[in-house]
Amino acid sequence: MIPVCEPTLKGNELKYVSDCIKTGWVSSVGSYVTKFEEEFSKYCGVQNGVSCNGGTAALHLALEALKIKPGSEVIIPNFTMISTAFAVQYAGLKPVVVDANPKTWNIDVSQIEDKITDKTKAIIAVHIYGHPCDMDEINKIAKDHNLFVIEDAAEAHGAEYKGRKTGSLSDLACFSFYGNKIITTGEGGMILTNNKEFAERMEYLGNLTFKKPRYIHDEIGWNYRMPNTNAAIGLAQVERIEELVKGRRDNAKWYNELLKDVDGITLPVEQSYVKNVYWMYGIIIEDNFGITRDKVIEKLLELGVQTRPFFWPMHLQPSINTKNKDDSFPVSEKLGKQGLYLPSSSHLTKEQVEEIVEKIKSLKK
Ligand SMILES: Cc1ncc(COP(=O)(O)O)c(C=O)c1O
Repeated sequence: MIPVCEPTLKGNELKYVSDCIKTGWVSSVGSYVTKFEEEFSKYCGVQNGVSCNGGTAALHLALEALKIKPGSEVIIPNFTMISTAFAVQYAGLKPVVVDANPKTWNIDVSQIEDKITDKTKAIIAVHIYGHPCDMDEINKIAKDHNLFVIEDAAEAHGAEYKGRKTGSLSDLACFSFYGNKIITTGEGGMILTNNKEFAERMEYLGNLTFKKPRYIHDEIGWNYRMPNTNAAIGLAQVERIEELVKGRRDNAKWYNELLKDVDGITLPVEQSYVKNVYWMYGIIIEDNFGITRDKVIEKLLELGVQTRPFFWPMHLQPSINTKNKDDSFPVSEKLGKQGLYLPSSSHLTKEQVEEIVEKIKSLKK
């Protein structure tokens, strides 16, 4: 079976985790946490990195840092992973969803202004599957309407927009280091920001609002701390991030070349102003492919290739109180029904990609 994604743990991961165990520094108090925060934020060109225990926690802390009045609205893409919307609701805010751009699958920037009201306070830009959003346009809209911008860069480690790294393009940027991410800590997350005040507030809120005097807590906080053992894995991964990103881009190069002439399959794009890191290599199964997306997933599994369907749109999620769920979202609905992503581990070989593509071609009717 070719798995949809596996971590690549071939550097100093074992050495650094062993060091934590040998020295007894296994909780969140430990030098790997600080080193990982410093190295990852430096790599992205941002001054402060605040680690936490997941990308969802990172989004929640970022929203809490902004001290937005409860009941305010936050613009998010309709086509995203559920965490983006959950975090808005954790913070007592209302998600307002915007359909996807049919080419990049990111938030359709041309539709954002229509959804802004006097209650809107922030926009979350999600770099879907590793393709950066058009951040100049988003930041311009935000500036005109006095809104904060958060990047959800959970899927876009090492990606670039006009030569600048994702994570450095907004007020606060959130990353996930779950096992299938381009760099992993097992479970984990980080928020990057050039605003020292935001960084201190997120550290405080994510550490159960501990301060001096100890055991007096002025506000509700959360235990969102990253353990030293996870940060040890993260540090070893940052050391090899360029190689891991290259692995993803090589996969895309091979898939693009081999799939480009297959009728009925739409491939992911890389706009001229970005470096797409293809966290997951996604394709759309068009009607003229001859069999449905669900059948393709089922048949590929029988042939030993694991895939995943695309995210299901937010306006159709029973758990999400989208204010504008009755608007029309044709692009995200199509992506949700017809998209899937193919095996995308950084260490996938060209021979494996060839094998996967042959199996896809054998399904065409
Ligand atoms: C766009 C996006 N945001 C947030 C998250 C949440 O990250 P985590 O699973 O680390 O909580 C993910 C995770 O896959 C994601 O893809």
